[in-house]
Amino acid sequence: MMKQTAMIVGVAAMAAGTALAADPARIDWTQVPATKLTLFFPGQASYEWVRNDHKGGKGAKAAAGGQACEKCHEGEEKDLGDALVKGGPLEPTPVKGKNGTIDLAVQAAYDAANAYLRFQWKTQQPYGGTEHQYLRYDGKEWKVYGYPKLDKVVQDGAQPGIYEDRLAIMIDDGKVPGFSKQGCWLTCHDGSRDMAKQFTKEQVAANPLLTAIKKSDVRKYLPATRSDPTDWKTGLAVADIAKIKAAGGFVDLIQWRAHRSYPVGMADDGHVLEFRLADAGKDMFSGNADRSTHQPKLMWDEKKVGYRSITADALRKGDHFLIAGQNAVPFDPNAGWKAGDMIPDYVTSREAAAGSAADNKAIASWKDGMWTVVIIRPLGLANADDKMLKDGGVYNVGFAVHDDNITTRGHHVSFVKTLGLGAEAEIKAVKLP
Ligand code: HEC
Repeated sequence: MMKQTAMIVGVAAMAAGTALAADPARIDWTQVPATKLTLFFPGQASYEWVRNDHKGGKGAKAAAGGQACEKCHEGEEKDLGDALVKGGPLEPTPVKGKNGTIDLAVQAAYDAANAYLRFQWKTQQPYGGTEHQYLRYDGKEWKVYGYPKLDKVVQDGAQPGIYEDRLAIMIDDGKVPGFSKQGCWLTCHDGSRDMAKQFTKEQVAANPLLTAIKKSDVRKYLPATRSDPTDWKTGLAVADIAKIKAAGGFVDLIQWRAHRSYPVGMADDGHVLEFRLADAGKDMFSGNADRSTHQPKLMWDEKKVGYRSITADALRKGDHFLIAGQNAVPFDPNAGWKAGDMIPDYVTSREAAAGSAADNKAIASWKDGMWTVVIIRPLGLANADDKMLKDGGVYNVGFAVHDDNITTRGHHVSFVKTLGLGAEAEIKAVKLP
């Protein structure tokens, strides 16, 4: 091992901080072994489906007892994904021509300061999905333009499919019961957005937990936060959920976003407990629509980029990021807007990102049909909403990729794997000198 790691030098200490950090751009990844995973399209195979409707009943019984998915499904990702993506009881709105699986190569390294997680996957489309929804002027008003491909408006042809590519990681340090066996399936429930038996607005408005935490829909949650884990409506009291959190009973959720974090060299930092939550502080992205007027708050700085807005024919030609403090200026309502003018619905800022939500940095590129993403995660994070990575640690991890203009369940997912930093695991992080 010594010999191998000695070759991964390129260590230019960028560290004006405490621990010495490698320059992630100079790590020699050819010296770091790659773990090849097959991510598959899961459709609406939820926690509840796994327990109650799993084929033949046998799978359901064992899975309800907490048995590992891979105990029965090892090597079956391709069969599962190819079957589910076509449509059927578990996929009511199939996307025509969508791939059933994505091959994801995962590499990991670490030094005294950070873990470096590198991912490579091929996109289905001949472009990296860096576009996200826009605000578009229709001659009278600014309205959202572009939706994810599972949405009816896209399937009907009323709107184009526009949504950023994403790479997501869930991390458990062994404190979430069952995560080591069933991974992400603990968090994915009926009733959530785009899942079977999706919530109604009235149900959410009447729900004590969701009103207490000021949420207007249902997203990922962990079983322990509900008195009946199979019913999102049965949330525990906020004080009891806080106790679960203090005991570490949450999973970390890191998302690299091709429109909303990539332009500023970051990945977001969230966690899943009673909801899919952002960590404390401030994300690197925020909405660009004014709440009352629905007009954009910022537009492009014409002096810097040559235009204030784009039109649909410019989509997929170059980058269209709106970055506060770099290429954006306050929106001018009297600039002679024409029908069809478009301004991004989100704005990013590295400077605005703060606190625990701003922990993760990232370097990425899309080339020859493939994304390469390196996520840089500091070791030793002591925040109440982070899983602390450390030398010698072993973690249960799940991966997901949102490819080709899609969100919610339209991702490809992995069964749970282990990640070890200087410890035995399926994905072994190599120690950098
Ligand atoms: C005890 C064994 C067992 C366990 C554990 C198990 N399954 Fe299954 N699963 C099955 C069997 C058997 C089938 C039916 C196989 C077939 O149709 O070829 C199945 C089918 C499926 C399908 C395909 C459904 C379809 O309509 O094509 C999915 C998706 C699935 N399982 C997901 C999971 C997930 C996720 C887990 C873990 C949370 C899991 N399974 C755990 C046995 C199991």
